[in-house]
Amino acid sequence: MRAALVTGAGSGIGRAIAGRLVTDGWQVLSVDLRLTSDMPGEPFEADLIDRAANRHAVEAAVERFGRLDAVVACAGFQHVSPVADFPEDVWERLLALMLTSPFLLAKYAWPALTANPGGRFVALGSAHSLVASPYKAGYVAAKHGLTGLVKTLALEGAGAQLSATTVCPGFVRTPLVEAQIAAQAKAHGLPPERVLEDVILAPHVIKRLIEPEEVADVVAFLLGPGGATFTGTAVSMDLGWTAR
Ligand SMILES: NC(=O)c1ccc[n+]([C@@H]2O[C@H](COP(=O)([O-])OP(=O)(O)OC[C@H]3O[C@@H](n4cnc5c(N)ncnc54)[C@H](O)[C@@H]3O)[C@@H](O)[C@H]2O)c1
Repeated sequence: MRAALVTGAGSGIGRAIAGRLVTDGWQVLSVDLRLTSDMPGEPFEADLIDRAANRHAVEAAVERFGRLDAVVACAGFQHVSPVADFPEDVWERLLALMLTSPFLLAKYAWPALTANPGGRFVALGSAHSLVASPYKAGYVAAKHGLTGLVKTLALEGAGAQLSATTVCPGFVRTPLVEAQIAAQAKAHGLPPERVLEDVILAPHVIKRLIEPEEVADVVAFLLGPGGATFTGTAVSMDLGWTAR
């Protein structure tokens, strides 16, 4: 039975990925800051901004499952602010969670991921791994950096047949986006459906949100045999956002 470690598994995309992998027969260590009673897989509480917590999570997976075939780095958060006002501690936390944590997970999991051919490292990037938006300096910087990390992992892992890939969705229907809709509705004095249509969905060519299960489908594919050739790439699934 293959084993995976999924971060951010308590909510949104990470939760959908962990659930999909459990359904597909994987053993899953579901890592999150906050555990919920109905989390799929085996819950493991960790604040991944803390360096040691990343090591502990990898050790727990290897100890419980006796192997680790895949890491899916998904934990993240957003902060919206102009550069001149961007809080420096929030910048550091964004980078720590969305860039340093994936690096540390890869570093600590490397012996297990390369022990057998076919290891996988999948990182949740974003359309913001490829293009920027105003007021999201920390998020955009972390997500761009992530693609560089994943490319390097692909080169270093090639000899062991390890594949590393970044998945880059547009806006996905999760609490992270729902909070942005609510905040923007309040700020602009607009009904939430107007914010969704006029602001959130503006960059999507096809005007809808992506469902977390659609991201889980792509990740499940990348973790399977068909995913091997995608090593080193950033796979866009952004409803046309980056085509323009
Ligand atoms: N929702 C979108 O539109 C969208 C689009 C592209 C990429 N993404 C990326 O997908 C990933 C998941 O986002 P989501 O929309 O599912 O968000 P979400 O808020 O629903 O889930 C994020 C999870 O990360 C966890 N987390 C936050 N800080 C943590 C920490 N310090 N340690 C451990 N866990 C922590 C949260 O507890 C939460 O369960 C993120 O990396 C995000 O950047 C999201």
